[in-house]
Amino acid sequence: MQWNEIADHAKQWIKEAGSLLVASLQVSLVIETKSSASDLVTNMDRQIEQFFIEKIQGTYPHHRILGEEGYGDKLTSFEGTVWLIDPIDGTMNFVHQKRNFAISIGIYHDGIGKIGIIYDPVQDELYSTIAGEGAYCNDIAIPKLGTGIVEEGIVAVNAIWLTENSMLNCEKMTALVRRLRGTRSYGCAALEIVYVATGRLDGYITPRLSPWDFGGGAIIVQEVGGIITDFKGNSLNPIEKSSVLVAKPGVYEQLLEYVN
Ligand code: IPD
Ligand code: CA
Ligand code: CA
Repeated sequence: MQWNEIADHAKQWIKEAGSLLVASLQVSLVIETKSSASDLVTNMDRQIEQFFIEKIQGTYPHHRILGEEGYGDKLTSFEGTVWLIDPIDGTMNFVHQKRNFAISIGIYHDGIGKIGIIYDPVQDELYSTIAGEGAYCNDIAIPKLGTGIVEEGIVAVNAIWLTENSMLNCEKMTALVRRLRGTRSYGCAALEIVYVATGRLDGYITPRLSPWDFGGGAIIVQEVGGIITDFKGNSLNPIEKSSVLVAKPGVYEQLLEYVN
């Protein structure tokens, strides 16, 4: 398989799609809700997913696509080459803030991560990797992560998970927040994962992500030595929803004790 050629196409398409998103910030959007008032979808989420499907099917007719908005294939297995696509990760930010959103692509072959590409079109930052060949932010290599400790760490966690809930232990999380140097919440899982890869964050804790949220970022962060698992320390299954803990070495082991 020509992974370099596939990655070049994916980068070209993601940049094109990013330009469409930036242009759309100047015009009014069609905004609808899905499962709840905080679960937003716009005409652009749909347009961008359809844009990728047209490009991929036209160039790689045997590849399959799992996209958040459901225009791709109905997958029951992960055989062959599969593209996981989130056309806009951080739709709430896209609508309300007009920043802090990204397009996320993860390309897997027989369930193994091969290419991860995430594009923040407002910052014009393209994070990418072909597994085994290093990770990049634009054309600059992202250095391997060293080890860290929570006392010197900034960890992303959404404040909702610090209130009483069924996924994370409130008392443990309170103790963790007191021990950390700081917390942040960006509302865009793909960016929060690549921020761990680039060292802007030391960890990210989130109880419920879909494959298209973590599929691209997981390949990038692992390429630089970051660790990404579910809250029990199991590898992520790219076809299933999951809790996600991602961090640099050292911080990961400490965080696992708080979320497990
Ligand atoms: C959401 C964002 C958010 C995360 C949610 C995701 P969407 O993706 O990544 O940060 O907390 O779990 O669903 O809906 O904007 O693509
Ligand atoms: Ca998402
Ligand atoms: Ca989305």
